[in-house]
Amino acid sequence: MTDFTPTRTASRLAGLTPFLVMEIMERALDLEARGRSVVHLEIGEPDASPPRAGLDAAAEALQLGQTRYTDSCGLLELRQAIADDYQARCGLRPDPATILVTPGTSPAMLLAFSLLLDSGGEVIMPEPYYACYPNFVRYCGGTVVPCVTRADESFAVDPERIRKLVTPQTRAIVLASPSNPTGAVQSLEVMRALAELGPPLVSDEIYHGLVYGEGEAHSALGLSDEVFVLDGISKRYSMTGFRLGWLVAPPWAMPSLRIMQQNFFISAAEPSQRAGLAALRSGEGTPSAMRREYSARRDQLVEGLRELGFGIPHSPQGSFYVLADAQRYGRDSLALAYGLLEEAGVAVAPGIDFGPSSEGMLRFSYAVSEASIREALKRMGRVLPEWEKKNEKEAQR
Ligand SMILES: Cc1ncc(COP(=O)(O)O)c(C=O)c1O
Repeated sequence: MTDFTPTRTASRLAGLTPFLVMEIMERALDLEARGRSVVHLEIGEPDASPPRAGLDAAAEALQLGQTRYTDSCGLLELRQAIADDYQARCGLRPDPATILVTPGTSPAMLLAFSLLLDSGGEVIMPEPYYACYPNFVRYCGGTVVPCVTRADESFAVDPERIRKLVTPQTRAIVLASPSNPTGAVQSLEVMRALAELGPPLVSDEIYHGLVYGEGEAHSALGLSDEVFVLDGISKRYSMTGFRLGWLVAPPWAMPSLRIMQQNFFISAAEPSQRAGLAALRSGEGTPSAMRREYSARRDQLVEGLRELGFGIPHSPQGSFYVLADAQRYGRDSLALAYGLLEEAGVAVAPGIDFGPSSEGMLRFSYAVSEASIREALKRMGRVLPEWEKKNEKEAQR
């Protein structure tokens, strides 16, 4: 009999690299399960409670048996509430028929790249970038074209430099503003210029509502006919585990997106959709008190990291991350991250996850309490002076 046991994985997987932030988190969970104490600054998961209305709606959905497949594009009420929310936040109401509700923003990303990319298609993205973008692109047969932005220029994106990277093979430009991992917020002029370059603009707006101080995050919605907006309830509503996101797409894209959704996911979970609907209607997306709290945590973390010796030329404006230069302690960011976890009990994200230009950097999340930040800084302060001396000696060799 023929043996059909697979002996190797599909070649499509060859380009996939681990999501290092998750690897660090999984190692941290493993240590905790064995009794070690770990302060979690690696994962971008808000510690605030989800809106009460969202929790109640999820509980009610379970009670009422609203636990079934829905329209593959999502409950109509939810798509209408998402459209209303854009109207309230951006002054523009997308047609609910152009909104596809997905089980998280990540699946929305997979669908967008699956739609846009053929083998050899190029996707331009400012670097440092969200760690998973390149993997989605490569998985869909595409090639990543990075455009490095610099810390001493506040990670500002220069549309002119992006324009020079556009070729006949360009299939999309991807932007996250506010950014993970830099916290940079791009101006409306930059967003508009990117949208007008020609290729579709995939605008990841999952950190909207999380901007501190002067800046303002701008939606790409309406900036051109070829804009794909990605968003969800994970960050703004502290509802990561509900796995609910969406994609606002040009009308031409909807039939294909719907077919992919029907086949790959069928629909987002109904209780999560009901919870998301209630959260959106409650208008409790990161209330101003929580934003003030994040802003205070950011200042505390930036100041503490600078005192320890990390390089942070500019304080980040949004999201809840600080990308800091750690080269004083070593160049290999993954080794530094594992070292901090094992020796200090502090979990952080290695810069290399966000592109080669972030090697030697570490990303710290301040989606945790001020007490946790204080403890993490204290723990790091115990090991870093020794590492610095070791690093200096090695550099002299
Ligand atoms: C920029 C960015 N986009 C998307 C996601 C994924 O979000 P979701 O939980 O909705 O899948 C994340 C998660 O950290 C992110 O940082």
